Amino acid sequence: MRTPIIAGNWKMHKTVGEAVEVARKLDEQVADSPVEVVICAPFTSLSALSALGLKKVKLGAQNMYYADQGAFTGEISPAMLEDVGCEYVILGHSERREIFQESDELINKKVLKALETGLKPILCVGETLAQRKAEQTTDVVVAQTTQGLAGVSAKQIAHVVIAYEPIWAIGTGETSDGKDANQVITSIRQTLAELYGPELAEQVRIQYGGSVKPSNIAEFMEQTEIDGALVGGASLKVEDFVGIIRY
Ligand code: PGA
Repeated sequence: MRTPIIAGNWKMHKTVGEAVEVARKLDEQVADSPVEVVICAPFTSLSALSALGLKKVKLGAQNMYYADQGAFTGEISPAMLEDVGCEYVILGHSERREIFQESDELINKKVLKALETGLKPILCVGETLAQRKAEQTTDVVVAQTTQGLAGVSAKQIAHVVIAYEPIWAIGTGETSDGKDANQVITSIRQTLAELYGPELAEQVRIQYGGSVKPSNIAEFMEQTEIDGALVGGASLKVEDFVGIIRY
């Protein structure tokens, strides 16, 4: 049995004070949830959130660089994330791929380094609307999965979470249909089975992301292959995020 994982991606939102207030309330309200709960906060809030000693809610970052240290102005190393209490790190989010031109090759280097450091990557994959219309969805997500995971060992793969996020569904209010998302996620799992064998593939958690909210979470969670959600907008307010976690 895979433990469901609901992660909030706060993107570029919240000052330290706002982050602390939301995290504290959230931690209280989901204390007894059987679901693994993660908030991926901006770098600036991570240290303060870690100092809260949250009981239930785990911490993640939204990006990192793959070097240990050095002349990389503006970047954050995996060891720095560990130091501020992160267990997870989102890598290859479509906003990083599109706005900051991150390639599969760069994302792969980050995935390998995160795992080597002991961080669990949440590797994001997903197609654009044009790719969907051209019926390339499966090819795109399979290629992103394969390239993102190049060199990841059989020992490491169970520590990876994959988030399937169709780009046209992110922040748009449009969502993939639960069955449709399940089908794409099934092809991701098949790819994992080809790479690591069926037994290990069964252990990897694959989330859906893209306009997830309290009113549609059940549709995704009732699918056999969907093990959780990566939530943007609806993770910013305690009430909405709690509604999703209690699907
Ligand atoms: P959204 O974002 O829930 O606001 O669509 C999801 C994401 O980008 O991870």
